[in-house]
Amino acid sequence: MRGISLPTVNWATALYGFLRECEMSSLPKEILDCGAGGDDPPLLIFKRAGYITYGLDICDESLMQSRKYCDRMDIDLGIFKGDMRFLPFRAESFSFVYSYNAIYFLTKSDVAQAMREIERVLRPEGLCFVNFMSVDDPDEGEFSDSSFARNILGNIKFSKHEDDEADLYFDNFTIQRKEKRTVEMLQHDDVITQAYIDYIARKR
Ligand SMILES: C[S@@+](CC[C@H](N)C(=O)[O-])C[C@H]1O[C@@H](n2cnc3c(N)ncnc32)[C@H](O)[C@@H]1O
Repeated sequence: MRGISLPTVNWATALYGFLRECEMSSLPKEILDCGAGGDDPPLLIFKRAGYITYGLDICDESLMQSRKYCDRMDIDLGIFKGDMRFLPFRAESFSFVYSYNAIYFLTKSDVAQAMREIERVLRPEGLCFVNFMSVDDPDEGEFSDSSFARNILGNIKFSKHEDDEADLYFDNFTIQRKEKRTVEMLQHDDVITQAYIDYIARKR
């Protein structure tokens, strides 16, 4: 490694593109992550770039993982328990909101509800990033009986979107960037494929 300090969040590369868009905005540097928990929370990218960070997650295990991470790193990312379908914030509170690798755990009608909430809490001219799972993603597995997705969200498997299907959530936005992304990764000696459709959009 050369002499620069990079965030440790390596897999969330799409969010670096979002950070670049946020950096071009003149709005206050405050950001909300919907589905923010887990053992390597991507909010770190924004914290390191000087943003005031807030995150919410519905699952106790994910919250425990992010708490341990923050303790270990001695940082506060502002992650708390909450549900992206019912964001506990006033309208137009945030300049920037994102949901990374999270919204597709919800049922299709709840995806629409969460997108309405993201729109509500964003300021005019605020930016959002959301990645949806594409119908081209081969994962058709059902969630286990003990999963939070089944028990808390009432979903059976990942919700997927056709190429242009998610455009409808962005009626009151200008879509700045839309990218279909296919990822191949080696996992336990198997190559697995994932397919997403990423949006960066500006609220009108
Ligand atoms: C695959 S993890 C991704 C976590 C993190 N965004 C990351 O990229 O490392 C998905 C997360 O979304 C959270 N999640 C799912 N539905 C949610 C909801 N309705 N409200 C808040 N969080 C939710 C899950 O609990 C889980 O921690």
